[in-house]
Amino acid sequence: MGSDINIPNFKIKSIEAIKLIPKEERIKAIERAGLNIFLLKSDEIFIDLLTDSGTNAMSQEQWAAIMRADEGYAGARSFDNFKNAITEVTGFPCVLPVHQGRAAENVLDHVLIKEGNVVPGNIHFDTTEAHIEHRKAIPVNCVIEEAYDSAAELPFKGNMDLKKLEKTLEENKGNIAYVLHTITCNSGGGQPVSMQNIKEVSELCKKYKVLFFFDAARFAENAFFIKQREKGYENKSIQDIVHEMFSYSDGCTMSAKKDALVNIGGFIGFRRKELYEKCVPFGILFEGFPTYGGLSGRDLEAIAVGINEGIQEEYLRYRVKQVEYLGKELEKAGIPVMKPIGGHAVFVDGKKFLPHIPQEQFPSHTLTAELYAESGIRAVEIGTLLAGRDPKTEKNKMPKLDLMRLTIPRRVYLREHMDYVVESMKKIKERKGSIKGLKFSFESPILRHFQSRFERVE
Ligand SMILES: Cc1ncc(COP(=O)(O)O)c(C=O)c1O
Repeated sequence: MGSDINIPNFKIKSIEAIKLIPKEERIKAIERAGLNIFLLKSDEIFIDLLTDSGTNAMSQEQWAAIMRADEGYAGARSFDNFKNAITEVTGFPCVLPVHQGRAAENVLDHVLIKEGNVVPGNIHFDTTEAHIEHRKAIPVNCVIEEAYDSAAELPFKGNMDLKKLEKTLEENKGNIAYVLHTITCNSGGGQPVSMQNIKEVSELCKKYKVLFFFDAARFAENAFFIKQREKGYENKSIQDIVHEMFSYSDGCTMSAKKDALVNIGGFIGFRRKELYEKCVPFGILFEGFPTYGGLSGRDLEAIAVGINEGIQEEYLRYRVKQVEYLGKELEKAGIPVMKPIGGHAVFVDGKKFLPHIPQEQFPSHTLTAELYAESGIRAVEIGTLLAGRDPKTEKNKMPKLDLMRLTIPRRVYLREHMDYVVESMKKIKERKGSIKGLKFSFESPILRHFQSRFERVE
């Protein structure tokens, strides 16, 4: 673009009003919500950085496609548009629609996982891990050790440690359900995976004759990082990089709510028809007929257009740079953030920011409640609360990273919103020593972060 200013490749045609309610009301709201930001009402929130999932702004092309949708139960034209767009972008010949990412995990795991199996990955996302455990299998984390050092500046911190992976494959021969590479690695701070690492993981999978899948929710952002950071890819198009990435795998699960720029949807991509055909009956059982999979024709059309907009380089540049801007400004303000800045979010290191709060009192989750009361901004914890309990010992898992994620919806907020986030965090920094940790007043049994309630530790 020939400019250092980060200029979006779109202008705004339709807006949604937001309102900052007074501080006394925010304090009442978060107390009523049991100090859990998931239990707030959306109307009580000024800037919602809970997630980049399903919170994207759609384009006029997507809305126009929605109007043309075919809502036929079976064989809808909208399915053909959806399937053809995904096949073109990913190279996967077979595509099964599902209503969101975890539904893809559910269907695939019913086919691929048997009790006691092992599923290695580079830090599985929480729903992925919960589905693996629900099938009575064992998720094994093979991410590189540096992923746990929030200050380590590595270009591809989402990479799998090949030695750890090979050891896991060797020790569990005949008992591996599949290997999963999450691109970018959400639970590791939105960090990308290099093409080299993808290639090497794929070779190991071939050597051990196991299936290799991607959790591809943020595949386009991953491809953009490869273009920016990996030698030999600087002059390749995002589409070519995406094709190459997927060419090394047997398939993918996809939450289209991220890089396909929609509000709902997902799919499973398959290289081989036999596996697709094994998944179809479970798709029908859990999601619906294989030409709609829990989605309306409208949703299928929005994905067909969105997946192509999601791989536009101008869009990706703006997207990644907006997130980077927020991260750098927070860093300048002396807030400890995960480095390098990830693709979809800035992760504040809660343990470093609130060192007086022990990990079992959820420092990063505590910070989300404080940030909301201070500013009306909603962030989310990715740490000890999210990690849950070990199913065997029932003890709290103690992940190395305990982070507060400021997640940026796509094409939604402006630079001024980012500046407000920075100002709000500065205010909290000034009084952070007086912030008290939290304990459960109610602990929900499954995916506990959504429904649990808390009180302050006095
Ligand atoms: C990496 C990753 N995988 C899977 C999922 C699950 O997708 P969904 O929320 O659409 O069920 C998410 C959601 O945030 C994710 O970030």
